[in-house]
Amino acid sequence: MGASLPVLFRRPAILWSALAVAVAAAVVTVLLVVPGADDGPADGHGDYLDASLPIDERVADLVDRMTIEEKIGQMTQVAVPAIEANPAHVREYGIGSLLNGGSEALHETPEAWAAMIDGYQAEALDTRLGIPLMYGIDAVHGNTAIPSAVVFPHNIGLGAAHDPELAGRAAEVTAAETRAAGIHWTFAPCVCVARDNRWGRTYESYGEDPGIAFEYAGPVVEGYQGDDLTANTSVLATAKHYVGDGGTAYTSSTTDDYLIDQGVTTLTEDELRTLHLAPFRAAVDAGVGSVMASFSSTDLGDGPLKVHADEYLLTDVLKGELGFDGFVVSDWQGVDQISDDHAEAVRAAINAGIDMVMVPFEYQRFTSTLLSEVESGGVSEDRIDDAVSRILTQKFALGLFEQPYADTSGAAEVGSDAHREVAREAAAASQTLLRNDGDLLPLTGQESIYVAGSGADSIGRQAGGWTASWQGSIDPPTHGTTILAGIEEVAPDAAVTFSEDASAPVDGADVGIVVVAEDPYAEGVGDAGAGEHDMTVSEADAAAVDTVCGAIDCVVIVVSGRPIDIEPHLDGVDALVAAWLPGSEGAGVADPLFGAVPYDGRLPVSWPRQLEDEPLNVGDPDYDPLFAYGFGLQTA
Ligand code: GLC
Repeated sequence: MGASLPVLFRRPAILWSALAVAVAAAVVTVLLVVPGADDGPADGHGDYLDASLPIDERVADLVDRMTIEEKIGQMTQVAVPAIEANPAHVREYGIGSLLNGGSEALHETPEAWAAMIDGYQAEALDTRLGIPLMYGIDAVHGNTAIPSAVVFPHNIGLGAAHDPELAGRAAEVTAAETRAAGIHWTFAPCVCVARDNRWGRTYESYGEDPGIAFEYAGPVVEGYQGDDLTANTSVLATAKHYVGDGGTAYTSSTTDDYLIDQGVTTLTEDELRTLHLAPFRAAVDAGVGSVMASFSSTDLGDGPLKVHADEYLLTDVLKGELGFDGFVVSDWQGVDQISDDHAEAVRAAINAGIDMVMVPFEYQRFTSTLLSEVESGGVSEDRIDDAVSRILTQKFALGLFEQPYADTSGAAEVGSDAHREVAREAAAASQTLLRNDGDLLPLTGQESIYVAGSGADSIGRQAGGWTASWQGSIDPPTHGTTILAGIEEVAPDAAVTFSEDASAPVDGADVGIVVVAEDPYAEGVGDAGAGEHDMTVSEADAAAVDTVCGAIDCVVIVVSGRPIDIEPHLDGVDALVAAWLPGSEGAGVADPLFGAVPYDGRLPVSWPRQLEDEPLNVGDPDYDPLFAYGFGLQTA
């Protein structure tokens, strides 16, 4: 039975006039209170612009004001090369984020970067609701897009240093040198757990034991994000690549180019949780603002599924169970890999829990496709509102609505001596001593020293991939000191002869230092066997080792992103050091070599006797490495 009316309203005349007043009041309220599609902030007084309000209230007010097209624009991330000819498209499509892939060094200085980004920001602010854009970059071991920026050891070296606090300080410096250029967001840290060293991204991992990434994730996320994301020394961090990217099987790749990268990780759910999910739990608990989905697929027993389309992992586990309240960004064209049918791919990705799509080129196609999916009911507006709310929350947290333009007051600190000292300390701490016959090391610095090898005088090789370009290069524009320059700096009294190919006479030198090196690479390009990167010592470096170590006492230093096939070259080698990819401060490699600091690095990955033994991980049955996980000799 319906509710009975109060006695007063049981008289028809009074009832109808009261209803008329109520309806009129309701109509007036709707016009005044509920913002319509054409209600911008009247004279800038929208609640979302009120910085004194809690962020969740500002987000809710803004989302209520937005059209579906504006919401979809916020979910769209575009690469600069795709839009630089039409910067007004940032305004016309309401683009929420820009990036330049691969940390390309598009500009020389922090100020030039800031000017570029602010130009696009002006377009974003010229929209109806004035929602600022967010700029992201791969500042994964320093903001290497700026030549003068400090370059830190890649994660595998930081893992060898077994010092999460130091890794956190490295992130702090990187964040300061990134935000000083007007960049708000870094796609780091990679908390991947590399289980097969043939993977081209092994060096982006802290090691094969998830415990390392678990310990590092918190301090590094806090290093990037700081206590206050609005600070000009903080950037939004990204835990990546969610989840299981380091567990893909060799030759299981789903793409033509790669043999392991972006492949299939086949394991039980318990194994996935233990080996690969744990570091993300730590990153989420540390308040990471974004998570990047992995290109790879997982097969938990009922066939492979792309993580980009995996609602269970992205929504139920990451957002539900782990309580992640930031936003999930796709990887580069990662949505396209789901299906050749673009509508199907977009629908699957957004419904699975992708919140922002790194398109990054065909943004008109993406935005129109997603709009069609919402209009047809393939994607609910609630899902859109959830995604947009997550993205806007981070933009408010970054302070972009109050200060959308760059604050370059920190530009003078980019590449400063103080910042370089942190990178030198990290490089030194990452050095891992694997052999020291006759206690050859540390050297006294009074010797006549013969230096050879392709890694001795090459900033590019010692920095590795993601340095001033996606793949890195032999000769990047990066400032810093090579290992050779570091030797000369740390041992000024030594008589140093340098001959990269050891063609100069060796006799007469007291000791030889041969720095063998991998050439830089990134992602699947570095998959062993996929091309020129095969985890072996180059012929030239092998010849240099034979020449020098066949004549005098010698140290072999390996500059690489992972263990390489070194056993065939160890005869006559007195000391062996894994230098990993030490970054811009070559003096950090020289410091323990001459006893300025002790050697104390420990292997974060198992070093196999031969490549055929991969994957090889501590705890495996019949575990028989050349050098075991956790091994490292110490010096005083
Ligand atoms: C790449 C990488 C990812 C990077 C992104 C943007 O393909 O997988 O780690 O952050 O694209 O450059």
